[in-house]
Amino acid sequence: MDKYIINGGNKTSGSVRIDRAKNSLLPIIAASVAVGEKCFIEDFPHYSDTETMLEIVRAMGGKYRKKNGGVEIDASGLSTGFFPPKLFSKIRASVFMLGAVISRTGYAETVLPGGCNIGARPVDIHIYALNRLGVETKEENGRLVCRCEKMKGADMELPFPSVGATENAVIAASVAEGTTVIKNAAREPEIADVARFLNNCGAKISGAGSPIITIEGVKRLKGTDYLPVPDRIEAGTFLLATVLLGGETEITGCGIQNISAIINKTEHSACKLYSFNDKIYIKAKGMPERIRKIVTAPYPGYPTDLQSQTAAVMSVANGSGVLTETVFPSRFGYASQLKTLGADITVKGNSAYINGVKSLAGGEVYAEDLRGGAGLTLACLKAEGRSVLHGVEHIDRGYDRFEEKLSALGLDIKRVKNQITREL
Ligand code: EPZ
Repeated sequence: MDKYIINGGNKTSGSVRIDRAKNSLLPIIAASVAVGEKCFIEDFPHYSDTETMLEIVRAMGGKYRKKNGGVEIDASGLSTGFFPPKLFSKIRASVFMLGAVISRTGYAETVLPGGCNIGARPVDIHIYALNRLGVETKEENGRLVCRCEKMKGADMELPFPSVGATENAVIAASVAEGTTVIKNAAREPEIADVARFLNNCGAKISGAGSPIITIEGVKRLKGTDYLPVPDRIEAGTFLLATVLLGGETEITGCGIQNISAIINKTEHSACKLYSFNDKIYIKAKGMPERIRKIVTAPYPGYPTDLQSQTAAVMSVANGSGVLTETVFPSRFGYASQLKTLGADITVKGNSAYINGVKSLAGGEVYAEDLRGGAGLTLACLKAEGRSVLHGVEHIDRGYDRFEEKLSALGLDIKRVKNQITREL
């Protein structure tokens, strides 16, 4: 795996443009399979997760091609319900495509999904939603087999507002016969984004973004061009980077409307913070004020995907704080690596107890997952001296050219390709 060589201590200075949301693009690719006609997704970034999702579509008979900065997806040629095991296991979002594939072929067979190692990633809520729509599902020797000639709309109440299960259900229900009402639906902005995409294709979805989503199934969907929302997690990452490191950053291509939870918790550490249309301007000293307590929660709560980046800020804050994770069973894999950099962090159950220290010191650390890697990158940029961060491919899953964007902000970070030296 590649690594970052970082010399900490610089402040941010400059502008960064936020890419389109990874967590919109993944379900939109899944939804394009249900559409079954050419769809053009504009301003398409390069995340390794979206590349994998596109490869799954191609492996199952669909096509895609990159042009004019976007991607044209044509799933009309989908010829199987059998998911390629290796690709499917690489990313969690592959399971979001189940409903779409069943709507096209009446069948889906897959191994159970992979993704970041942030605790068990069960699919029981996905299966519940598909069962409600009339899909017969069976788990046989680690494989999930789904069958349904024609899905029928139904009422359902999710036991937990699962983002992916909500998206799976919305996509499948869009082309089911009759009406579907999803209660306790996830409310993330990316859900409304997928619904907008599908409505542009002729679907009849209302209430996306609220806890109750109603879908009138239609016979077929038609292709469309679409521009997804910006990535609020990437915007939050650069906002937290500025609070942590100090400096002046102009974040373009994303407003604060979807990141108010982060703003509320960090604006006291900023000298200046304002937003106009799709720009955020932040100026900070780089001496974060105390953050007493943060509890992650489904939207509009504090995003779990910014938890590790927040821990980096809290590690040098002026006081102690508690960071509690309520969405995933274990998402503190990075904590031991933060300790290597001198952070005073103790994990007990689903909470991390952090006492702010005066400074962090550079060291050698290892990323184990996407957002943990982003948090460790920020911590290394803060740490005095040189740091080496291994496992950069984890970060590539959800950030496009992360090191280039950070470097363009005046930060000292270089990517070194993993030199596999052959023993001659
Ligand atoms: C989506 O994952 C995001 N991924 C995650 O972002 C994000 O952290 C998560 O939502 C929560 O916001 C994409 O959108 C591609 P969930 P998802 O279903 O859908 C449990 C990132 O870094 N659960 O809302 O997999 C599950 O184990 C990634 O960008 C079940 O028990 O999340 C977890 O504890 C990481 N059974 C909780 O629900 C199920 O069938 C939330 O999961 C499904 C989920």
